[in-house]
Amino acid sequence: MARIQIPRIAPSEITPEPVWQARRVWLRQMGMGAVALGAASVPGMPWAAAAEKPALPATPNPQYWLSEKPTSEKDVTGYNNFYEFGTGKTDPRDRSGRFQTRPWTVTVEGEVAKPRTFDIDDLLKLAPMEERIYRLRCVEAWSMVIPWIGYSLSALLDQVQPTSKAKFIEFTTAAQPDTMPGLRSRIIDWPYVEALRLDEAMHPLTMLVFGVYGKMLPNQNGAPLRVAIPWKYGFKSGKSIVRIRLLETMPETSWVKIAPNEYGFYANVNPDVDHPRWSQATERRIGASFLAPRVETMMFNGYAEQVASLYQGMDLNRYY
Ligand code: MTE
Repeated sequence: MARIQIPRIAPSEITPEPVWQARRVWLRQMGMGAVALGAASVPGMPWAAAAEKPALPATPNPQYWLSEKPTSEKDVTGYNNFYEFGTGKTDPRDRSGRFQTRPWTVTVEGEVAKPRTFDIDDLLKLAPMEERIYRLRCVEAWSMVIPWIGYSLSALLDQVQPTSKAKFIEFTTAAQPDTMPGLRSRIIDWPYVEALRLDEAMHPLTMLVFGVYGKMLPNQNGAPLRVAIPWKYGFKSGKSIVRIRLLETMPETSWVKIAPNEYGFYANVNPDVDHPRWSQATERRIGASFLAPRVETMMFNGYAEQVASLYQGMDLNRYY
């Protein structure tokens, strides 16, 4: 009988090395903790699953509408990277129920004429809510198609008026030790920080996201607000943002700090530049059958026409 070859990829091949190394140490420590403290310290035990959120009405924007079938809501909200809640793909869904998303403010400061702290309820009213279908391509070589709700980040930046010195924008995300079990592991020097060049942030595709699948963002997807930069690997899209800083010089971001040879500042999706430990030429669409062929990864994740000009003259092998 002919045998069907199902491609098998070891977790160590696609998981960022610092993560699986830290996971081993963490599991060892938790094992010792469980012996010392009893069952209460078994990982996952005290944490609650995230609840569904209320509806968030939005108008579809046909300019940003893919014909591809969106990934199911179950997968979009159940297969996540949000290390503050753990490194397992279902940890964010299963352990983010205690995360506090109200009250919530976002401070915008640095090289801006009008620094300001925004309340989340004011941000929800700042510009009309649009629904846009974007591709999300993770550096781990899987992808999704997601119906986000929000508006262009430029609407917020126009309010604070970046000065002529502002060249970069830094996003600092929440760190709530009492509600985020993942903060106990030292994979990342918390809080998680990401950044963009200012022209990338001002591009209309760069979206401030408040909802998904017709509802306010579930905690596991970055409630109450995150960014989505569809032509970059998913790790650039910081979740649960609390501070935005406009800067003259390039800031140090979390993943660049951990492994600069593996994760660059730009992190543009590029099938021609491999990760040092795996190829970036193809991707696995989450939710597709195990036997379905892998999808070819597109330059700038399919958004080259809109964004390639931002990188004109740059050596993308060097500025990965
Ligand atoms: N933001 C924070 N604060 N913490 C994280 O661990 N993971 C990133 C990004 N934003 C991450 C984060 C990565 S690696 C990806 S692929 C996307 O979130 C995943 O977004 P999603 O789970 O909503 O699909």
